[in-house]
Amino acid sequence: TSPLRLGLAGLGTVGTGIVRIVQTHAALLEARAGRPVEITAISARSRSKDRGVDLSGYAWEDDPVAVARRDDVDVLIEVIGGEDGPAKAATEAALAAGKHVVTANKAMLAMHGQALAELADAKGLALRYEAAVAGGIPIVKALTEGLAANAIHRVMGVMNGTCNYILTEMESTGADYADVLADAQALGYAEADPSVDVGGIDAAHKLALLSAAAFGTRVDFGAVAIEGIDHISLTDIEHARDMGYRIKLLGVATHRDGRLEQRMQPCLVPEASPLGQLEGVTNMVVVEGDFVGQTVYQGPGAGEGPTASAIMGDVVDIARGLVIPVFGRPAASLVAPVEGGSGPASAF
Ligand code: NDP
Ligand code: HSE
Repeated sequence: TSPLRLGLAGLGTVGTGIVRIVQTHAALLEARAGRPVEITAISARSRSKDRGVDLSGYAWEDDPVAVARRDDVDVLIEVIGGEDGPAKAATEAALAAGKHVVTANKAMLAMHGQALAELADAKGLALRYEAAVAGGIPIVKALTEGLAANAIHRVMGVMNGTCNYILTEMESTGADYADVLADAQALGYAEADPSVDVGGIDAAHKLALLSAAAFGTRVDFGAVAIEGIDHISLTDIEHARDMGYRIKLLGVATHRDGRLEQRMQPCLVPEASPLGQLEGVTNMVVVEGDFVGQTVYQGPGAGEGPTASAIMGDVVDIARGLVIPVFGRPAASLVAPVEGGSGPASAF
């Protein structure tokens, strides 16, 4: 059987993780995918940087758009980042050339998800983004496949690993905010501009994508009410703990009677609750569906291994021939959401 050939645009934290999985698990991926899965071409800014992985077998392109257009690439993996620029140009070039795309780029999809999904869906191409939301947790798959028979009313949870790492490290070590943020950057958790994490914007990008996948509404990032954790002090964290609570950057999206409310903000959660127990880079997403009831997903929300794992799960689906609409139903059928109040979220 013919191999599935990957073009990898971006060789940073996530990109090198993808190289490691493909090289470590060639036999496993072939067994699961039913055909070999191999990287043929790569791109990054610096050709000479030592990335700690063997890249000698792959064709180099200076321009990620050229990767997307190569005849020996079936799937573009976009792990550059950024709303526009080379990430979007390469994604559009791949779809225009009839190639599937797997991306970890929630910023791009939160801004351009509808247009890109319409392009992909119209051409019967996969545009997969499991890695873009909650790192290693397969929450997009849960919403678009496993829970597809449910009307979903609410999606909520902790969706930014950097923020949860900062909040819990400050609490457990008493360390300074700036030092803990520097640790999160060194561990590869933070965005290129970490103000996107601590300002709540990254988590809001994710919530907007989950809303579309859950409710059949168009991605509406502009309607998310956003407050970050950048103003939370150690004193705030200690006061919360003294009262039996922990501070979490919590996202809640509720869809009821045709109205959608999306909020991302620091919240007090009881210390003994599942959300209150989340440590470090861990994320948790709670989904409420009408037939299934409440389901909960927990796992590492950022970092090389978990994010590369999510990317390659999507790649295996594509290798198997599975192409589903980007947001779980045809993009052209997604409705413009009407903003509206929903009342308080149920406790978790
Ligand atoms: P990094 O900053 O570590 O890597 C970005 C890569 O893109 C680098 O290899 C860089 O090249 C390359 N790049 C930048 N500009 C260009 C360009 N013009 N042409 C070609 N390559 C370019 O980012 P991450 O790996 O952390 O993140 C990548 C994406 O994954 C982002 O969208 C991010 O939001 C998302 N993501 C990240 C997670 C994480 O835990 N890190 C988790 C989930 C999603 P060079 O190395 O030469 O500078
Ligand atoms: N910066 C993001 C986070 C990466 O910390 O959650 C994972 O999306």
